[in-house]
Amino acid sequence: MLFSPSGISECVQEWNDLEKDYQHVQETHRLYKQKLEEVSKLQESCTTAITRQRKKLKDLTVSLEECKEKLNPEEMNVIDGIQESIRDRPNVFFEMESFLPKKNGLYLSLVLGNVNVTLLNKQSKFAYKDEYEKFKLILTVILFVFSFTCRFVVSYRALDALFNFLLVWYYCTLTIRESILISNGSRIKGWWVFHHYVSTFLSGVMLTWPEGKLYQMFRSQFLTYCLYQIGFVQFLQYYYQSGCLYRLRALGERHNMDLTVEGFQSWMWRGLTFLLPFLFFGHFWQLYNGVTLFRMAQLPECKEWQVVMCGCSYLALFMGNFFTTLGVVYQKYMNNQDKSKSL
Ligand code: COA
Repeated sequence: MLFSPSGISECVQEWNDLEKDYQHVQETHRLYKQKLEEVSKLQESCTTAITRQRKKLKDLTVSLEECKEKLNPEEMNVIDGIQESIRDRPNVFFEMESFLPKKNGLYLSLVLGNVNVTLLNKQSKFAYKDEYEKFKLILTVILFVFSFTCRFVVSYRALDALFNFLLVWYYCTLTIRESILISNGSRIKGWWVFHHYVSTFLSGVMLTWPEGKLYQMFRSQFLTYCLYQIGFVQFLQYYYQSGCLYRLRALGERHNMDLTVEGFQSWMWRGLTFLLPFLFFGHFWQLYNGVTLFRMAQLPECKEWQVVMCGCSYLALFMGNFFTTLGVVYQKYMNNQDKSKSL
């Protein structure tokens, strides 16, 4: 319990103690500001040094290629060694830059203005990513319940509109959070972020699709797809992604350890093999949605522009998701092969 003075002498005594403590607070704060300035200067000099290094390494790479033509085998070995080290540098600089403040990209500048979004330590970065995964999980549950209600309980256009509005908001929020994650060193592939822009657009178009025969024709297929993709598959994805996050955090550095920790590798492959059939099934469902919508667009009673727009969006989602996922699996497979060869 806090001491509360009674009587003038205790009050004066308390004031004197507070005065001493106040001096201490001022001194600590002065030191804090001084350190902040030092940190700002260090950040600036690191950023400048990295830019300089990048430029010089680029020039050196060109010069080395030119030298290669007239060298003996011994000198070639030296050059190979240098080139090997140069190849590692972009990764190192990428990790370094994830701890340095940088100018926001166009999207973040438009949404947030020019505020610094770089988190300066690993714990905060982990906490932010963890919160992003939990946010997706909570919204997955809400959207699952919502789509289930629309599909099986209540058939009411206004409720569908509310569901689509929630989707627009959800995907918009994801694009902002993912841009912040990328600024903090996350290696999310550009497509996944772009996929959320396309999904925002698609949900926005669905929101404006007026009630009518065509809307009713597509409604059940759309809601069942949402139940599967946004509810079920996203839940599996959450299990996999958060599993990766916690395991890699326990191991230490994510990207450097990716290729070296066998226990993690085998867990990841087991998770992926389980997840991939469900992912691919979802991708082909997107293709099926696209084809259904294009077929509907051929009908004489089709007057709504939303049919073709949604069809195009589903086709874009199918192609992007399918080929990016194949690319990710291929890349992981090749990394695994390289690792086995080097052992
Ligand atoms: N959305 C958001 N972030 C993603 C992502 C996605 N679909 N896929 C990968 N990432 C993130 C990872 O969390 C990781 O982040 P980090 O650098 O901050 O740790 C980074 O991107 C690199 O991940 P990577 O190693 O390439 O892949 P992974 O092993 O984490 O996941 C898949 C691989 C195939 C499971 C994943 O890409 C995926 O789920 N793809 C399918 C998504 C899809 O088709 N959705 C359908 C529409 S909802």
